[in-house]
Amino acid sequence: MARVLITRRLPFPALDRLAAAGHDLDVWPGELPPPPDRLRELARDAEGLLCLLTDRVDDALLDAAPRLRAIAVMAVGTDNVDLEACRRRGIPVGSTPGVLTEATADLAFALLLAAARRLLEAAAAIPAGKWRTWEPAAHLGADVHGATLGIVGYGRIGQAVARRAQGFDMRIVTTRDTELTALLETADFVTLHVPLTERTRHLIDADALERMKPTAILVNTSRGGVVDQAALADALHRGAIAGAALDVTDPEPLPASDPLLAAPHLLVVPHIGSATHSTRARMADLAVDNLLAALAAEPMPHPAA
Ligand code: DGY
Repeated sequence: MARVLITRRLPFPALDRLAAAGHDLDVWPGELPPPPDRLRELARDAEGLLCLLTDRVDDALLDAAPRLRAIAVMAVGTDNVDLEACRRRGIPVGSTPGVLTEATADLAFALLLAAARRLLEAAAAIPAGKWRTWEPAAHLGADVHGATLGIVGYGRIGQAVARRAQGFDMRIVTTRDTELTALLETADFVTLHVPLTERTRHLIDADALERMKPTAILVNTSRGGVVDQAALADALHRGAIAGAALDVTDPEPLPASDPLLAAPHLLVVPHIGSATHSTRARMADLAVDNLLAALAAEPMPHPAA
Protein backbone atom coordinates (compact mmCIF):
# COMPACT_ATOMS: atom_id res chain seq x y z
CA MET A 1 0.00 0.00 0.00
CA ALA A 2 1.37 3.39 -1.00
CA ARG A 3 0.39 6.97 -0.43
CA VAL A 4 -0.65 8.48 -3.75
CA LEU A 5 -1.01 12.20 -4.28
CA ILE A 6 -3.52 13.21 -6.95
CA THR A 7 -3.26 16.86 -7.87
CA ARG A 8 -6.90 17.46 -8.80
CA ARG A 9 -10.31 15.89 -8.22
CA LEU A 10 -10.83 13.49 -11.13
CA PRO A 11 -14.39 12.28 -11.59
CA PHE A 12 -13.40 9.08 -13.36
CA PRO A 13 -13.88 5.46 -12.26
CA ALA A 14 -10.20 4.66 -12.80
CA LEU A 15 -9.36 6.12 -9.40
CA ASP A 16 -11.45 3.41 -7.71
CA ARG A 17 -8.88 0.90 -8.95
CA LEU A 18 -6.14 2.71 -7.05
CA ALA A 19 -8.22 2.65 -3.89
CA ALA A 20 -9.23 -0.98 -4.49
CA ALA A 21 -5.54 -1.89 -4.71
CA GLY A 22 -5.25 -0.62 -1.14
CA HIS A 23 -3.47 2.64 -1.91
CA ASP A 24 -4.09 5.62 0.25
CA LEU A 25 -5.29 8.51 -1.94
CA ASP A 26 -4.64 12.13 -1.09
CA VAL A 27 -6.60 14.30 -3.51
CA TRP A 28 -5.92 18.05 -3.77
CA PRO A 29 -9.42 19.52 -3.38
CA GLY A 30 -8.87 22.80 -5.22
CA GLU A 31 -10.31 23.61 -8.61
CA LEU A 32 -7.00 25.25 -9.54
CA PRO A 33 -3.65 23.44 -9.46
CA PRO A 34 -1.84 23.44 -6.11
CA PRO A 35 0.73 26.25 -6.03
CA PRO A 36 4.30 24.86 -6.30
CA ASP A 37 5.14 25.37 -2.61
CA ARG A 38 1.89 23.65 -1.57
CA LEU A 39 2.57 20.83 -4.01
CA ARG A 40 6.00 20.33 -2.46
CA GLU A 41 4.45 20.09 1.00
CA LEU A 42 1.77 17.67 -0.15
CA ALA A 43 4.30 15.47 -1.94
CA ARG A 44 6.51 15.11 1.15
CA ASP A 45 5.31 11.57 1.99
CA ALA A 46 3.94 10.59 -1.41
CA GLU A 47 5.15 7.41 -3.10
CA GLY A 48 2.97 7.86 -6.16
CA LEU A 49 2.01 11.06 -7.94
CA LEU A 50 -0.83 11.41 -10.41
CA CYS A 51 -0.44 14.89 -11.86
CA LEU A 52 -1.75 17.01 -14.70
CA LEU A 53 0.00 19.08 -17.35
CA THR A 54 -0.56 22.10 -15.11
CA ASP A 55 1.80 20.78 -12.42
CA ARG A 56 5.52 21.43 -12.71
CA VAL A 57 7.59 18.38 -11.75
CA ASP A 58 11.15 19.61 -11.34
CA ASP A 59 14.17 19.14 -9.10
CA ALA A 60 12.62 21.23 -6.35
CA LEU A 61 9.54 19.01 -6.20
CA LEU A 62 11.52 15.80 -6.46
CA ASP A 63 13.88 16.92 -3.68
CA ALA A 64 10.85 17.61 -1.50
CA ALA A 65 9.40 14.15 -2.17
CA PRO A 66 12.12 11.64 -1.23
CA ARG A 67 9.75 8.66 -1.13
CA LEU A 68 8.39 9.19 -4.65
CA ARG A 69 8.70 6.09 -6.84
CA ALA A 70 6.10 6.59 -9.57
CA ILE A 71 4.81 9.59 -11.52
CA ALA A 72 1.83 9.31 -13.84
CA VAL A 73 0.96 12.35 -15.93
CA MET A 74 -2.61 12.43 -17.20
CA ALA A 75 -1.51 13.75 -20.59
CA VAL A 76 0.49 12.61 -23.57
CA GLY A 77 2.67 15.73 -23.49
CA THR A 78 5.10 15.63 -20.58
CA ASP A 79 6.92 18.94 -21.08
CA ASN A 80 5.83 19.94 -17.56
CA VAL A 81 8.06 17.18 -16.18
CA ASP A 82 11.83 17.29 -15.99
CA LEU A 83 12.23 13.76 -17.32
CA GLU A 84 15.99 13.85 -16.92
CA ALA A 85 15.70 14.75 -13.22
CA CYS A 86 13.28 11.85 -12.74
CA ARG A 87 15.59 9.48 -14.62
CA ARG A 88 18.54 10.50 -12.43
CA ARG A 89 16.47 9.53 -9.38
CA GLY A 90 15.21 6.30 -10.97
CA ILE A 91 11.59 7.46 -10.81
CA PRO A 92 9.54 6.14 -13.74
CA VAL A 93 7.22 8.61 -15.49
CA GLY A 94 4.18 7.52 -17.46
CA SER A 95 1.93 9.34 -19.89
CA THR A 96 -1.32 8.62 -21.74
CA PRO A 97 -0.53 8.10 -25.43
CA GLY A 98 -3.01 6.94 -28.04
CA VAL A 99 -6.27 7.47 -26.20
CA LEU A 100 -6.51 11.17 -27.02
CA THR A 101 -5.34 10.96 -30.62
CA GLU A 102 -8.74 10.98 -32.28
CA ALA A 103 -10.32 13.61 -30.00
CA THR A 104 -7.36 15.95 -30.51
CA ALA A 105 -7.44 15.42 -34.27
CA ASP A 106 -11.18 16.15 -34.22
CA LEU A 107 -10.52 19.44 -32.46
CA ALA A 108 -7.69 20.37 -34.83
CA PHE A 109 -10.07 19.86 -37.70
CA ALA A 110 -12.86 21.76 -35.95
CA LEU A 111 -10.49 24.70 -35.48
CA LEU A 112 -9.35 24.51 -39.09
CA LEU A 113 -12.94 24.54 -40.35
CA ALA A 114 -14.03 27.27 -37.95
CA ALA A 115 -11.14 29.52 -38.93
CA ALA A 116 -11.50 28.82 -42.66
CA ARG A 117 -15.22 29.61 -42.68
CA ARG A 118 -15.04 32.38 -40.07
CA LEU A 119 -17.68 30.68 -37.94
CA LEU A 120 -17.21 32.79 -34.82
CA GLU A 121 -17.51 36.11 -36.63
CA ALA A 122 -20.50 34.89 -38.61
CA ALA A 123 -22.29 33.56 -35.51
CA ALA A 124 -21.53 36.74 -33.56
CA ALA A 125 -23.17 38.83 -36.28
CA ILE A 126 -26.61 37.43 -35.41
CA PRO A 127 -27.00 38.51 -31.76
CA ALA A 128 -25.33 41.79 -32.78
CA GLY A 129 -28.25 42.45 -35.16
CA LYS A 130 -25.95 42.49 -38.18
CA TRP A 131 -27.73 39.79 -40.20
CA ARG A 132 -29.67 42.10 -42.50
CA THR A 133 -30.03 39.88 -45.53
CA TRP A 134 -28.16 37.31 -47.62
CA GLU A 135 -25.13 39.28 -48.69
CA PRO A 136 -23.09 38.21 -51.71
CA ALA A 137 -19.79 39.31 -50.22
CA ALA A 138 -20.30 38.91 -46.47
CA HIS A 139 -18.37 36.44 -44.28
CA LEU A 140 -16.35 35.06 -47.16
CA GLY A 141 -13.83 32.46 -46.06
CA ALA A 142 -11.44 29.96 -47.55
CA ASP A 143 -12.14 26.64 -49.24
CA VAL A 144 -11.07 23.65 -47.20
CA HIS A 145 -11.82 21.05 -49.88
CA GLY A 146 -9.01 20.88 -52.39
CA ALA A 147 -6.68 23.03 -50.25
CA THR A 148 -3.19 21.98 -49.18
CA LEU A 149 -2.76 20.98 -45.55
CA GLY A 150 0.73 21.16 -44.06
CA ILE A 151 1.12 18.83 -41.08
CA VAL A 152 4.08 19.68 -38.86
CA GLY A 153 4.83 16.56 -36.80
CA TYR A 154 3.55 13.33 -38.30
CA GLY A 155 3.06 11.19 -35.23
CA ARG A 156 -0.20 9.66 -34.07
CA ILE A 157 -2.18 12.92 -33.98
CA GLY A 158 -0.71 14.33 -37.19
CA GLN A 159 -1.66 11.10 -38.98
CA ALA A 160 -5.18 11.21 -37.52
CA VAL A 161 -5.56 14.76 -38.85
CA ALA A 162 -4.36 13.55 -42.27
CA ARG A 163 -7.09 10.89 -42.31
CA ARG A 164 -9.70 13.58 -41.74
CA ALA A 165 -8.15 15.79 -44.42
CA GLN A 166 -8.38 12.97 -46.95
CA GLY A 167 -12.16 13.03 -46.50
CA PHE A 168 -12.08 16.70 -47.45
CA ASP A 169 -10.08 16.02 -50.62
CA MET A 170 -7.16 18.02 -49.28
CA ARG A 171 -3.65 17.69 -50.56
CA ILE A 172 -1.38 16.74 -47.65
CA VAL A 173 2.24 17.67 -47.11
CA THR A 174 4.02 16.67 -43.93
CA THR A 175 7.36 17.27 -42.28
CA ARG A 176 8.00 13.54 -42.70
CA ASP A 177 8.53 14.04 -46.42
CA THR A 178 9.01 17.81 -46.88
CA GLU A 179 11.32 20.42 -45.33
CA LEU A 180 9.48 22.72 -42.93
CA THR A 181 10.24 25.81 -45.03
CA ALA A 182 8.86 24.20 -48.20
CA LEU A 183 5.78 23.04 -46.29
CA LEU A 184 5.15 26.53 -44.94
CA GLU A 185 5.49 28.05 -48.40
CA THR A 186 3.04 25.57 -49.98
CA ALA A 187 0.34 25.01 -47.38
CA ASP A 188 -3.02 26.76 -47.22
CA PHE A 189 -3.42 25.45 -43.67
CA VAL A 190 -0.57 24.59 -41.32
CA THR A 191 -1.38 22.36 -38.34
CA LEU A 192 1.11 21.70 -35.53
CA HIS A 193 1.53 18.28 -33.89
CA VAL A 194 5.01 18.27 -32.37
CA PRO A 195 5.84 17.88 -28.68
CA LEU A 196 7.34 20.92 -26.96
CA THR A 197 11.08 20.42 -26.59
CA GLU A 198 14.09 22.71 -26.71
CA ARG A 199 14.22 21.95 -30.44
CA THR A 200 10.58 22.83 -31.15
CA ARG A 201 10.24 25.89 -28.87
CA HIS A 202 9.27 28.80 -31.16
CA LEU A 203 9.56 26.54 -34.20
CA ILE A 204 6.95 28.82 -35.70
CA ASP A 205 8.75 32.13 -35.30
CA ALA A 206 8.70 35.37 -37.28
CA ASP A 207 10.69 33.81 -40.09
CA ALA A 208 8.41 30.78 -40.33
CA LEU A 209 5.30 32.98 -40.33
CA GLU A 210 6.83 35.13 -43.05
CA ARG A 211 7.21 32.04 -45.23
CA MET A 212 3.51 31.19 -44.98
CA LYS A 213 1.11 32.38 -47.66
CA PRO A 214 -0.82 35.56 -46.78
CA THR A 215 -3.97 33.48 -47.30
CA ALA A 216 -2.82 30.68 -44.98
CA ILE A 217 -4.24 29.74 -41.60
CA LEU A 218 -2.23 28.34 -38.66
CA VAL A 219 -3.78 25.75 -36.33
CA ASN A 220 -2.08 24.74 -33.08
CA THR A 221 -3.30 21.92 -30.85
CA SER A 222 0.17 20.88 -29.62
CA ARG A 223 1.75 23.24 -27.10
CA GLY A 224 1.67 27.03 -27.00
CA GLY A 225 5.44 27.29 -26.75
CA VAL A 226 5.85 25.90 -30.27
CA VAL A 227 4.67 29.27 -31.59
CA ASP A 228 6.31 32.63 -30.93
CA GLN A 229 3.11 34.42 -29.95
CA ALA A 230 4.50 37.94 -30.30
CA ALA A 231 5.50 37.09 -33.86
CA LEU A 232 2.08 35.55 -34.47
CA ALA A 233 0.27 38.65 -33.19
CA ASP A 234 2.42 40.79 -35.44
CA ALA A 235 1.79 38.54 -38.46
CA LEU A 236 -1.98 38.67 -37.88
CA HIS A 237 -2.01 42.46 -37.46
CA ARG A 238 0.00 42.90 -40.67
CA GLY A 239 -2.08 40.38 -42.61
CA ALA A 240 1.05 38.32 -43.23
CA ILE A 241 -1.16 35.27 -42.66
CA ALA A 242 -4.95 35.08 -42.89
CA GLY A 243 -5.74 33.64 -39.49
CA ALA A 244 -4.85 31.39 -36.59
CA ALA A 245 -6.81 28.98 -34.44
CA LEU A 246 -5.19 27.90 -31.19
CA ASP A 247 -6.12 25.33 -28.57
CA VAL A 248 -2.90 26.00 -26.69
CA THR A 249 -1.09 29.16 -25.65
CA ASP A 250 1.92 30.23 -23.65
CA PRO A 251 1.16 30.83 -20.85
CA GLU A 252 -1.98 28.93 -19.99
CA PRO A 253 -4.35 30.34 -19.10
CA LEU A 254 -3.74 33.28 -21.42
CA PRO A 255 -4.59 36.45 -19.47
CA ALA A 256 -7.48 38.38 -20.99
CA SER A 257 -5.09 41.32 -21.28
CA ASP A 258 -2.56 39.39 -23.40
CA PRO A 259 -1.76 41.41 -26.56
CA LEU A 260 -2.24 38.28 -28.69
CA LEU A 261 -5.97 38.45 -28.01
CA ALA A 262 -6.18 41.84 -29.71
CA ALA A 263 -4.99 40.33 -33.00
CA PRO A 264 -7.51 39.99 -35.82
CA HIS A 265 -8.66 36.68 -37.32
CA LEU A 266 -7.70 34.76 -34.21
CA LEU A 267 -9.67 32.00 -32.52
CA VAL A 268 -8.46 30.71 -29.16
CA VAL A 269 -10.03 27.91 -27.13
CA PRO A 270 -8.85 26.85 -23.65
CA HIS A 271 -6.79 23.67 -24.27
CA ILE A 272 -9.74 21.36 -24.94
CA GLY A 273 -8.14 19.00 -27.47
CA SER A 274 -8.78 15.91 -25.35
CA ALA A 275 -11.91 17.22 -23.68
CA THR A 276 -14.47 14.54 -24.43
CA HIS A 277 -16.09 12.42 -21.73
CA SER A 278 -14.69 9.13 -22.98
CA THR A 279 -11.22 10.47 -23.81
CA ARG A 280 -10.63 11.99 -20.39
CA ALA A 281 -11.89 8.79 -18.73
CA ARG A 282 -9.45 6.76 -20.82
CA MET A 283 -6.62 9.13 -19.99
CA ALA A 284 -7.35 8.61 -16.28
CA ASP A 285 -7.38 4.85 -16.92
CA LEU A 286 -3.93 4.89 -18.48
CA ALA A 287 -2.54 7.11 -15.73
CA VAL A 288 -3.84 4.67 -13.12
CA ASP A 289 -2.46 1.69 -15.09
CA ASN A 290 0.95 3.37 -15.01
CA LEU A 291 0.79 4.06 -11.28
CA LEU A 292 -0.47 0.60 -10.34
CA ALA A 293 2.32 -1.04 -12.31
CA ALA A 294 5.13 1.11 -10.96
CA LEU A 295 3.90 0.90 -7.37
CA ALA A 296 3.96 -2.88 -7.78
CA ALA A 297 7.58 -2.56 -8.98
CA GLU A 298 6.59 -3.49 -12.53
CA PRO A 299 7.37 -1.52 -15.71
CA MET A 300 4.82 1.14 -16.59
CA PRO A 301 2.74 0.10 -19.60
CA HIS A 302 2.93 3.63 -21.04
CA PRO A 303 6.27 5.13 -20.11
CA ALA A 304 6.94 8.72 -21.14
CA ALA A 305 9.45 8.97 -23.96
C1 DGY B 1 -1.96 16.18 -23.65
O1 DGY B 1 -2.38 15.10 -23.23
O2 DGY B 1 -0.78 16.44 -23.76
C2 DGY B 1 -2.98 17.16 -24.07
O3 DGY B 1 -2.47 18.38 -24.37
C3 DGY B 1 -4.06 17.26 -23.01
O4 DGY B 1 -5.23 17.42 -23.69
